Amino acid sequence: MLTAGAASLLAACGGAGGASGTGNGGGGSSSSSSSTSSSSSSVADLPDPATAPALKTHFAPKFKIGMSVDPWRLEDPLVKPTLLKHANSLTAESVMKAEPIGVSAAVYNFTEADKLIAFAQANGMEVRGHALVWHRAAPSWFFAGDPSQPGYKATVQARLETYVTDVVTHFKGKVSAWDVVNEAVSDDPSSNYRNSQWYQIFGPEYLVIAFKAARAADPAVPLILNEYMTEQPEKRARFLAVLDAAIAAGAPIDGVGHQLHINSNWPSVPDVRAALQAVEARGLVNHITELDVSLYTTDAATCYGSPPTGCQAALVQGTPAYANALKSQALQYRAMFSLFSEHASVKSVTMWGVADNHTWLSNDPVPRLNHPLLFDTDAKPKSAFWAVVDPAFVP
Ligand code: XIL
Repeated sequence: MLTAGAASLLAACGGAGGASGTGNGGGGSSSSSSSTSSSSSSVADLPDPATAPALKTHFAPKFKIGMSVDPWRLEDPLVKPTLLKHANSLTAESVMKAEPIGVSAAVYNFTEADKLIAFAQANGMEVRGHALVWHRAAPSWFFAGDPSQPGYKATVQARLETYVTDVVTHFKGKVSAWDVVNEAVSDDPSSNYRNSQWYQIFGPEYLVIAFKAARAADPAVPLILNEYMTEQPEKRARFLAVLDAAIAAGAPIDGVGHQLHINSNWPSVPDVRAALQAVEARGLVNHITELDVSLYTTDAATCYGSPPTGCQAALVQGTPAYANALKSQALQYRAMFSLFSEHASVKSVTMWGVADNHTWLSNDPVPRLNHPLLFDTDAKPKSAFWAVVDPAFVP
């Protein structure tokens, strides 16, 4: 039986198994801003933002501090200064996925992704590559043809290998790691593997094909298997089975990306620690790839169904419930960063967003106020920020 928190996250990262894309063709953002007139934290009670340490300095040399962003978000006046001060790693929220890059077979659009790379290079930041192979944001040309024809599988394999080879080659020397395969694991206990189109055509072999092509194209870049809910014991068991099988079949996997889309009450530190340790036991590195801490802790699993039902009612700023949620969030962030700091295997910690004025959780699973990041809607450090950098701070 899943906890409400665990259940609520099943579909948060694509667990519903749809094949929809990012919805971002490169010209705008699909995650709307939360339109609040006041900032998302009670700044009056917090230390002067001018005294905030830079996260990237605070956590050096333990791990890199990353934030996800797309190039057009750099136009937001709050975004650039926050990145420049705190981040030394970036992940493209959308523009390095296969849908925007893979226009058609062997035809690519790198324009937006290259803008992000240029910004990172100009400012001494790394870029994590996200993501080569995913059940979402996979353009339909990959799968075109008649699956009943004898040559179909070989044709799709050639498309996959060409895509991975060309994209990894394009970014060779410019990315610090690649999320080669994203969300390969099933949420359904009856199977270890997500029943994606990739899986339907190749079975588990698609992971091996993708990782081998990536390694051949750039032998130096660390290759990561990225997944959500690795902290949930049953999902973790399935994840480890998929990981071990891929490695046994020859996939050159260097590390695991734990998305960590979590909430203020879930998961527990021991569950996340167990996920980190399982990876360490295999001699691999850990990346925290998409950390955010939702304020919603009691969504039913059906909240991720269609239509969504049983979602926790939207919190309202200025209410005691909202204040309590921010406090729990701060304690959760503190617990997580303190855990990461204990593990030398953790090489990067990336937040899925920059500040609360833009987060995918404003729309997912339903449109509602959600303030899941370390910086408020004015990009000011929240309680969660101070809890992370100052052990004496009381949220
Ligand atoms: C999300 C983006 O944040 C959204 O803007 C987009 O519409 C869909 O994708 N897990 C992942 C990320 O690996 O790529 C997803 O990003 C969030 C869940």
